[in-house]
Amino acid sequence: MEEFKNIELDDSKSEYLYIQLYRIIKRKIIDNELKPNSKLPSVRKFSEILNINKTTIVKAYKMLEDGNYIYKKVGSGTYIYDISTNEEYIDSKYIEYSRNKINLGSGIPSEELFPVEDFKESINYVLDKYKGKAFGYQDSKGDESLRKMIFKIFIKEKMDITTNQIQIISGAQQGIDLVSKALLNAGDFVMTESPTYTGAIAIFKSRGCQFTTINIDYSGIDFEEFERKVIQYRPKLFFTMPNFQNPTGYTYSEEEKLKVLELSKKYSFYIVEDDYSSELNFSNIKIKTLKELDKNERVIYIKSFSKIFLPGLRLGYLIVPEVLEKKISSAKHSTDIYTSGLIQKTFEVFLKDEKWAKQFDLIYEMFKQKYYIATDVFKNHLPDNVKLNKPNGGVNFWLELNENVDTNKLYDYLLKKNIIIAPGNVFYLNNKKSNSIRISVASVEKDKLREYLIVFCDSLKNYLQNERETKKIQVL
Ligand SMILES: Cc1ncc(COP(=O)(O)O)c(C=O)c1O
Repeated sequence: MEEFKNIELDDSKSEYLYIQLYRIIKRKIIDNELKPNSKLPSVRKFSEILNINKTTIVKAYKMLEDGNYIYKKVGSGTYIYDISTNEEYIDSKYIEYSRNKINLGSGIPSEELFPVEDFKESINYVLDKYKGKAFGYQDSKGDESLRKMIFKIFIKEKMDITTNQIQIISGAQQGIDLVSKALLNAGDFVMTESPTYTGAIAIFKSRGCQFTTINIDYSGIDFEEFERKVIQYRPKLFFTMPNFQNPTGYTYSEEEKLKVLELSKKYSFYIVEDDYSSELNFSNIKIKTLKELDKNERVIYIKSFSKIFLPGLRLGYLIVPEVLEKKISSAKHSTDIYTSGLIQKTFEVFLKDEKWAKQFDLIYEMFKQKYYIATDVFKNHLPDNVKLNKPNGGVNFWLELNENVDTNKLYDYLLKKNIIIAPGNVFYLNNKKSNSIRISVASVEKDKLREYLIVFCDSLKNYLQNERETKKIQVL
């Protein structure tokens, strides 16, 4: 009975006591603190423990029973349902979520921490200060004072480059597109990781490129294969996300990063480093970007502010080797002339007023908590035969299922239950079959994450169980 003694109800709250009690017990059941088929105190005993009216307990038990969280055995007492295998419970959850899908498929951050008021203040300041000039034409490279500010805050301490090498872009997606425009012609080979970011595959395909790939898995990069493929296909560039790779979450060791740099020098290909989330490092091992390690101007570095600030701002920057500066800025000019001057100026004010540091700390803390919620839920609720490699940062988790699981079918099954995931095949060239899925914690609000992930794990368990049963029947 110990676990019931510390339940605290607050009668100064406007919420009825029986609803408070219902929520507390429901949470304990969902979090597996109250184990399936364990017994709840009798109404009389519980009312004595909590020193409240018996009808409060009766009403709370009734709500829990209606929601299929508990059941009564005549003459014996009240027990906890095994909700993980109870379709009725899961279906009732889906009805609850039907208007609000559980989106574990998207990497777009949730809105809960968007700094609307601070941003409003900065934009008003810009409009008051620059008036109509805020809407004038800009340099294709980007506003010089913003580029200087970016250099001061993000680069000076880490990389040996000049402000001139910074090119402002309208998001990382545009960065990849500009690099492709500047460097690639139809028929050129591009080397990508496999699996990789789908948005990059789309761009390279649109340029008419051919592909060679290198497998990413947690046992490390096979550099013999890497070098063999480089010699065979002579790729013009290698597109990589060396820190918290999307979708696998894999981070190259420093040795691996240096090896990639060495090969790029030896075989004269450029490395396009898409650094979309290296700041979201939750381990105490320091990680570096390839650009920080690059001594030979082989890396074209792409930084997006979508994950660590505001995705809708459409803002980021490139660091371009000096020899490519002109090509890239003319690609920018022919694409959209320049990134919105108003947004650039506003972002500069945001950085200058130190609102950035405050905002970044909040975002980092939120993602860190999300990361730990997810690893904790996965540890306790994932079915046994699902493999998870801990990424130690970022927003994505890559789950490997048994080889024969069709993750497209799983996707359809979960979608019917209002849960969205990303099936592995979408991250492979030509939609190659995959028995992995990507779970992203970016889009779900932190306070709902634990419950949503448990619902996901339970549904996955159910799906795999049903699959096994169907197979058994087929064999029989
Ligand atoms: C790896 C990767 N690169 C680039 C992008 C595009 O980012 P942006 O919003 O800055 O265009 C995304 C978006 O999710 C991404 O995951």
